[in-house]
Amino acid sequence: MTESSHNSLEDKLRRAMGIDLQTVGHNSLRNAVARRMRVLDIKERRQYYELTDGSAAELNELIDEVAVNETWFFRDNTPFLVLQRYARNWLKRGRGSCLKILSMPCASGEEPYSIAIALLEAGVNGPLFKIDAIDISYRALRLARRGIYGRNSFRGCDNFFQRKYFQKTKAGYVIAKYIKHPVNFLRANILDASLPILNNRYDIIFCRNLLIYLDKDNQKLVVSILDNLLVDEGLIFTGHAEPGAFADSVFIPAPYPKAFALTRRSAAVSKPDPADYNWQVFPPPLPVQPLLSTELDVVRDLADAGQHEEAMECCEQYIRRHGLDKEAYLLMGMILTDMDEPRLAIRMLKKVVYLDPNLVRAIDMLALLYKGLGDDNNYRVFKQRAGRVAARKQSAGKVSE
Ligand SMILES: C[S@@+](CC[C@H](N)C(=O)[O-])C[C@H]1O[C@@H](n2cnc3c(N)ncnc32)[C@H](O)[C@@H]1O
Repeated sequence: MTESSHNSLEDKLRRAMGIDLQTVGHNSLRNAVARRMRVLDIKERRQYYELTDGSAAELNELIDEVAVNETWFFRDNTPFLVLQRYARNWLKRGRGSCLKILSMPCASGEEPYSIAIALLEAGVNGPLFKIDAIDISYRALRLARRGIYGRNSFRGCDNFFQRKYFQKTKAGYVIAKYIKHPVNFLRANILDASLPILNNRYDIIFCRNLLIYLDKDNQKLVVSILDNLLVDEGLIFTGHAEPGAFADSVFIPAPYPKAFALTRRSAAVSKPDPADYNWQVFPPPLPVQPLLSTELDVVRDLADAGQHEEAMECCEQYIRRHGLDKEAYLLMGMILTDMDEPRLAIRMLKKVVYLDPNLVRAIDMLALLYKGLGDDNNYRVFKQRAGRVAARKQSAGKVSE
């Protein structure tokens, strides 16, 4: 791809999702394009670039690749305590028939489902609240609607919630139907002039961890959209690095430490009572940094349960977050073998061998895959190589891998 076509692809993405590639990193676009080209088996970058010109569907695929979907249940914790306080006061005042909440962007659903759980725990019953949950990523919304999560999604909360609201299955933790019920997922671009919720009014808006990826103009645009969507005495929750985007607006920080909440200047907000912060209900979060091996365990569980596409998706996300990783590529090779995609499996396993030329298991698998394809030459090459590496390891006293 030439520099100018790369730049105009950036422009296209900026127009399509408002994203500022300076913040996401230019490499992330290059990697996203490379992944799409691999999936489509396109060799020339120019050819891929022309494809995004003519195909809205392909641009959406690219958006899915570039979008940072990282999220987890009860992220930051305190916003959910403040939400409960708001909801209890709302109940006491007997205001309105239904508490309306917006989660935008909602990514793969952990945030809106956490909102639903927090409200139920605060004594607000299902019919008394509705949650609209919006994201631009089709892929993230598919996962959200499916409602099955791996361990990584629970890094922010105690397993009390896992036991109470999820059923453990081979495919992952399945969220209870009655938590899904009040959540209405919609695919939309927050910056779209025809955003389908523009006529709605919400008591609470969660708009977290999106503004940081937008340029200044689009941040301003989002703040004015939120102004239209929020009721007079409503609350907005942002990500911890985002309250600055509301400077010089109608919003000011609300007096709730660590909640990253904002209200209108004109709203009457009472100081919180420490008793509102009921840490018995929401225990402090577990360490945020996930154990790498645990993440790949989830992938193995998914693969064992035959959820091949989800497992592949998790591997790709893992590599996006942690960089090239032989274990992740090895897993992808095994999953693709199970999916009867020997050529794609070979590509992954070659990456493993590139990263670790002495991994006998991967070399053996390559030999077998070539044998299955009837490619006797390559079969012999890898079989002999596996033999040589194994012999070297044995003589060095390292028989096991
Ligand atoms: C890091 S996640 C945040 C999820 C959740 N709010 C949280 O804080 O855990 C960011 C999400 O923003 C979505 N996104 C990016 N640009 C968007 C846009 N223009 N309109 C709607 N969603 C967008 C991405 O698809 C991604 O799922």
